[in-house]
Amino acid sequence: EQIEKGGYDHFMLKEIYEQPSAISDTYRGRMLPDQGLIRMAGVDDNIERIAHARRILIVACGTSWHAGLVAEYIFEDLARIPVEVEYASEFRYRNPIISENDVVIAISQSGETADTMAAIKLAKEKGAFVFGVCNVVGSSISRETHAGAYTHAGPEIGVASTKAFTTQITVLTLMALKLAKHKGTISNSDFRFHLQELERIPEKVKEALNSDEHIRGIADIYKNATNCLYLGRGFNFPVALEGALKLKEISYIHAEGYPAAEMKHGPIALIDEQMPVVVIATKRGHYEKVVSNIQEIKSRKGKIIAVVTDGDTEVRELADHVIEVPETMESLTPLLTTIPLQLLSYHIAVMLGKNVDQPRNLAKSVTVE
Ligand code: G6P
Repeated sequence: EQIEKGGYDHFMLKEIYEQPSAISDTYRGRMLPDQGLIRMAGVDDNIERIAHARRILIVACGTSWHAGLVAEYIFEDLARIPVEVEYASEFRYRNPIISENDVVIAISQSGETADTMAAIKLAKEKGAFVFGVCNVVGSSISRETHAGAYTHAGPEIGVASTKAFTTQITVLTLMALKLAKHKGTISNSDFRFHLQELERIPEKVKEALNSDEHIRGIADIYKNATNCLYLGRGFNFPVALEGALKLKEISYIHAEGYPAAEMKHGPIALIDEQMPVVVIATKRGHYEKVVSNIQEIKSRKGKIIAVVTDGDTEVRELADHVIEVPETMESLTPLLTTIPLQLLSYHIAVMLGKNVDQPRNLAKSVTVE
């Protein structure tokens, strides 16, 4: 097992550090920025059906559901196809309205999650076209779907999902771009710019990983917190949910993710000097509005840990701690802002002596209902 961990203390840490190569493995061979092309067999073969879907329904569980939420923003923004994201467990039991004009995208790292599998079967019965995004090659879900795309993240052993999440977002971004190009909802220059920027993401993830020691210091300060709030907006709202999930899963600290602007409808009542609030406040993406949310937290004495764009000065003046990530286009920021949140949870869990790779009560893949 030590050999498999490749010198890292835990699989989770190894998998966090594998993300630059996992992301490039996911897009390699699929995108050709110089030619302005994306090749994805599962999409190419069914392009008319997918591009002209009445709507796309995404079904998933856990972290994969969060990747689905990020995809909702990306698909609607780029390809202008209406998207709904559903917990597979809810979808399967609520007599959903699905027709032959719908496309269902099932996202699953393991490809074995029972609820997601049941949602697929239901969607197929109702005539929808079902596309799978799985990591495990040959898994049940990849076999049950009409077409699909693998994430190529390599084996993920840590129960808390890390590289599966960022590679799912990568695949779904490629898919959205491809559909956008086909539909003409993106200009050729914008399309190329997206591909070029995606190609720079692995390097930028590496830069984000350089904050590891700094994040460990922050973890040491907040490791005894009993609650933690995560806030983000737009593309980074699902990242806030995912950050909170990571902390819950492995450190057993209660954490909640919220859209930053919804804070005033409830969570703000919880804020006092005991409450760490992790805020994703990267440039672009409603930056000024998030800054005003930060001011509201500060005036209630909450402790602010902000994830910001390199070189930010405005948030630095307000926050107790800032963690920088490189600049990129807004839709790709989740691939970077997720990294420090993974590391923060990891270090807190290690400091608390928790079993990081196999947290209590959780399973890597939930194959029963
Ligand atoms: C379990 C795992 C999570 C995972 C979820 C969905 O809860 O602990 O890490 O996100 O299942 O799994 P899937 O394999 O379908 O992505």
